[in-house]
Amino acid sequence: MTAPLRVPEPTMVRVALAERSYEIVIGRGLIAWLGSRIAALRPGAAAAVVTDETVARHHLPAAEAALAAAGVRIARVLVPPGEASKSWPMLERVCDGLLAEKIERRDLVVALGGGVVGDLAGFAAAITRRGLDVVQVPTTLLAQVDSSVGGKTGINSRHGKNLVGAFHQPVLVIADTSLLDTLPVREFRAGYAEVAKYGLINDAAFFAWLEANWCDVFAGGPARDHAIATSCRAKAAIVARDERETGDRQLLNLGHTFGHAFEAAAGFSDRLLHGEAVALGIVLAYGFSARLGLLSPAEAERVAAHLAAVGLPTRADDIRGGTPDVDRLMELMAQDKKVRRGQFTFILARGIGKSFIASDVETGELRAFLAEKLA
Ligand SMILES: NC(=O)c1ccc[n+]([C@@H]2O[C@H](COP(=O)([O-])OP(=O)(O)OC[C@H]3O[C@@H](n4cnc5c(N)ncnc54)[C@H](O)[C@@H]3O)[C@@H](O)[C@H]2O)c1
Ligand SMILES: [Zn+2]
Repeated sequence: MTAPLRVPEPTMVRVALAERSYEIVIGRGLIAWLGSRIAALRPGAAAAVVTDETVARHHLPAAEAALAAAGVRIARVLVPPGEASKSWPMLERVCDGLLAEKIERRDLVVALGGGVVGDLAGFAAAITRRGLDVVQVPTTLLAQVDSSVGGKTGINSRHGKNLVGAFHQPVLVIADTSLLDTLPVREFRAGYAEVAKYGLINDAAFFAWLEANWCDVFAGGPARDHAIATSCRAKAAIVARDERETGDRQLLNLGHTFGHAFEAAAGFSDRLLHGEAVALGIVLAYGFSARLGLLSPAEAERVAAHLAAVGLPTRADDIRGGTPDVDRLMELMAQDKKVRRGQFTFILARGIGKSFIASDVETGELRAFLAEKLA
């Protein structure tokens, strides 16, 4: 296959983690350069592409053609699409697949897919032969702005989501924004909740830009690339400050304590996608902040209005198939791994772009707030 003659310069974002530093390369059409980038990064290394069957149908031919054109030996491990693949049986399949293909310490695992493939392949890479390097090639908006960056990898256990895993930073992230052209709009919208989250955490100007430009972000082109690059810069900065989530990295959980509880109540099914739950969670976090007098009701309303305009759920009754009751939600939030010794740690806000970690949230007040919102 021939690479396009002229492509716009990609955007580079560096994740500064001393000897574990790496680049995120962002731009349209980058998949055509996958082989040459991998050959340049690790001359002579084989590439073991781990992907799911849906992504394989859309994008594996282009990825493999690019690798072959650069003379890279290709191995391939496929898993079924969906959250259920973040499991012990699929972890075994990927690890054994890598070994069967004779992937060695100097070779590379290429995680081509959304967050499910990224988390699973990243974890398999972390433990196979005591650690293989992984290149993340995210194919969903959520993966391009969030899960492919920062090194969290893992699978789900019967005890809960993401409870078995490892920190394993990639050696390179290649975000080809044109791969998102095949993504169902509902998935794109869900990923957008994480994009908006970066504005709400600490970049009010970015949130205002999104309010004005979100249609162009959905349409593709330069606005989409800008939104993805800005999000990656925000995540890279937070991860560089706090790789292991002992401090600032917790800010990335804005909307997630509420969100996870709704996701769990919906059985992690496609009744409610992760990003949809995050949108609802963000609206609740801002609503609760307003209720505590930390910000004005008008500001909380502005956040809800933007997410609703995009088409994300912002009220509990937007969830198909009904909502859990307050007791169940409180119980689910208490099970969340962000809870320590019964104290709720929440990300609250003093305004748009002014989020902070609140570690002493009063259970009674929270329950009263939720009871009102679910009524
Ligand atoms: N590691 C982290 O830091 C981190 C952060 C956030 C989320 N996550 C994890 O990410 C997962 C969710 O990721 P996701 O939302 O990307 O879901 P996903 O990987 O399941 O992808 C969503 C769906 O889109 C399909 N798909 C992917 N790319 C496509 C494309 N380009 N065209 C058409 N279809 C495509 C997939 O096959 C799948 O059916 C969760 O398991 C979550 O726990 C991890
Ligand atoms: Zn998230």
